[in-house]
Amino acid sequence: AGHYQIPRLEWTFGGLSGYFDKQQLRRGFKVYQTVCQTCHNLAHLSYRNLTQPGGPELPKEEVEAYAAQKQVADGFNDAGEVNMRPAKLADLFVGPFKNDKEAAAALNGAVPPDLSLITKARTVEREVEWYAFPFVMLKDVLTQYQEQGADYVHALLNGYMEPPATFNLLPGLSYNRVFPGHQIGMPQPLTDGAVDYDDGTPTTLDQQSKDVTAFLAWAAEPTLADRKKLGAWVLIYLIILAGLLYASKKLIWRNVK
Ligand code: HEM
Repeated sequence: AGHYQIPRLEWTFGGLSGYFDKQQLRRGFKVYQTVCQTCHNLAHLSYRNLTQPGGPELPKEEVEAYAAQKQVADGFNDAGEVNMRPAKLADLFVGPFKNDKEAAAALNGAVPPDLSLITKARTVEREVEWYAFPFVMLKDVLTQYQEQGADYVHALLNGYMEPPATFNLLPGLSYNRVFPGHQIGMPQPLTDGAVDYDDGTPTTLDQQSKDVTAFLAWAAEPTLADRKKLGAWVLIYLIILAGLLYASKKLIWRNVK
């Protein structure tokens, strides 16, 4: 299978001052809506999250119309049957299948995982020279660790290819250079031009993969930008506090040799 190193990408949500790019999230949501939601769900997300600050910030009417396409169970009618109604802003996302069994039956036995936390659930193994190990570990902790899952998902969506001649691919599975074991039950979901963008961004496979991955990273942590902003203020506070403590120590002990 050879060794393919999953590339490290620059994400807007990386680092100390990370944030989500609204335009990118909107494109990513379009990819999700056009392609991914046929098989996957984002069960931890509510429709109203799509309208909130820090996310795609879609207009309320647009999200209401999107939600209304799905049916949710809401109590029972007079005949004692489950009452179904169109989803509202306050409802959780509705998935394409009733349960895993139904999903497996539709997809050759493979069950598409919920994508709400997928960018947190996947990691990347990087090959590192032994002498670089401590430095890489430090850098990982500081910058890379939080973006590994995004790097993986992007590489996965870009990773479909013809299997090497010696590879024994099982029927119904696809070859993917980054999926563990290389045989994946998800057929290649994205190709160049699979989605139309409204903002003129080129719809290459790579661009769609980046955008939908950013959208999934937002879905996994809609409050990331707030958390990072707060973190920056905490650091500033601690630096000022350290200065004050040092100055008062000097003052208090100034007469003691
Ligand atoms: C698995 C993302 C579209 C069916 C996955 C995984 C991710 C993912 C991240 C987990 C891979 C892993 O376990 O490491 C996406 C995205 C899509 C998309 C972002 C849209 C661009 C689809 C579609 C289908 C599908 C349209 C159905 C035709 C599956 C299945 C699995 C899976 C069956 C489980 C594969 C296995 O464990 O072998 N998807 N997916 N996905 N996806 Fe998708």
